Amino acid sequence: MRVLVTGGLGYIGSHTCVELARDGHRLLIIDNLGNAKPSVLERIRELAPGAAIEFVRADVRDAAALESAFAGAGIEAVMHFAGLKSVSESMANPALYRDNNLGGTAILLKAMARHGVERIVFSSSATVYGVPEQLPYTESHRLQPANPYGQSKLQVERLLAAQAALRAGFRYAALRYFNPIGAHPSGRMGEDPRGVPENLLPYLTQVALGRLPRLRIYGADYATPDGTGVRDYLHVMDLAAGHLAALAYLCDRDRSICANLGAGRGYSVLEVLGAFERATGRKLAYDIAPRRPGDIAAYHADASLAARELGWKARYGIEDMCRDAWRWQAQNPAGYPD
Ligand SMILES: NC(=O)c1ccc[n+]([C@@H]2O[C@H](COP(=O)([O-])OP(=O)(O)OC[C@H]3O[C@@H](n4cnc5c(N)ncnc54)[C@H](O)[C@@H]3O)[C@@H](O)[C@H]2O)c1
Repeated sequence: MRVLVTGGLGYIGSHTCVELARDGHRLLIIDNLGNAKPSVLERIRELAPGAAIEFVRADVRDAAALESAFAGAGIEAVMHFAGLKSVSESMANPALYRDNNLGGTAILLKAMARHGVERIVFSSSATVYGVPEQLPYTESHRLQPANPYGQSKLQVERLLAAQAALRAGFRYAALRYFNPIGAHPSGRMGEDPRGVPENLLPYLTQVALGRLPRLRIYGADYATPDGTGVRDYLHVMDLAAGHLAALAYLCDRDRSICANLGAGRGYSVLEVLGAFERATGRKLAYDIAPRRPGDIAAYHADASLAARELGWKARYGIEDMCRDAWRWQAQNPAGYPD
């Protein structure tokens, strides 16, 4: 298919682009480079040699730019990764998250409607659930996001549902990601955050490199087996595979779906640290810091709907995720070249 991928140079989008292109899809990537470097495009092309991959630098909120990207391009489906993703930033600047994540999607949906494009896979998030009423989170769990980032994801899900109610042929997949980590097994592609990482794995890899002195563990007094926070980590390559499964579902089953994409089990921070040390043969120093406001003690996905409907299951284990993340960071200590 001819697939338009927004945010395709970002962490999850780039890995998914490689898998889409290797599966024979022809790609038109749109990214504003707000959180990505242009050299990611070269790596995508390197890992999918000979594939048809075009790139347009544009913001999804720019209706005129979208119009010219869609015009005559024969787009058949959209994968919509473009968005901002920092919970703390969203608390400091909620309007930005509403504008970029919800506003950007609204403009994208208008362009799709004008060009008769009826299939979209959207990057939603487990943050749509909020404080757990029961675990694992199933898709029917109460939706009460605890921060503007999660609210923007839920608002987009609602917008997609409204669009599906309005337009008979419109189908969407809202994929509620849990905690993607890891990197392409080649070591050529991975997560490349700016500044000090907010997420555990890039923080760990930077401590292992010696760029950060010690791991900081926020909270060791949670009601979890070892007191540290528990999350459902999944390999970014598994997540990429989930997108291909969702695209096939939209086309073959001709229905919309909201599905969790997670491994279906949790690991504590100390368990991830142990797995990282085993996978890399390095010992890392760490400190215990106070809990971060708004953090949830533990959560993981019920991933059975994705297994049943999409035929998708996470395949990689935690040590694979750590080993691949480390391979990427060790081979690219400064991330992607400028
Ligand atoms: N990484 C996670 O832990 C996680 C978890 C759940 C959901 N998500 C969602 O998945 C999506 C991808 O996440 P990621 O980790 O790859 O983030 P990322 O920041 O690496 O990728 C997002 C990409 O979108 C681009 N972008 C942002 N706003 C844009 C705009 N208005 N117009 C055009 N391009 C724009 C950025 O430049 C970047 O390349 C996001 O929507 C994020 O909210 C991520």
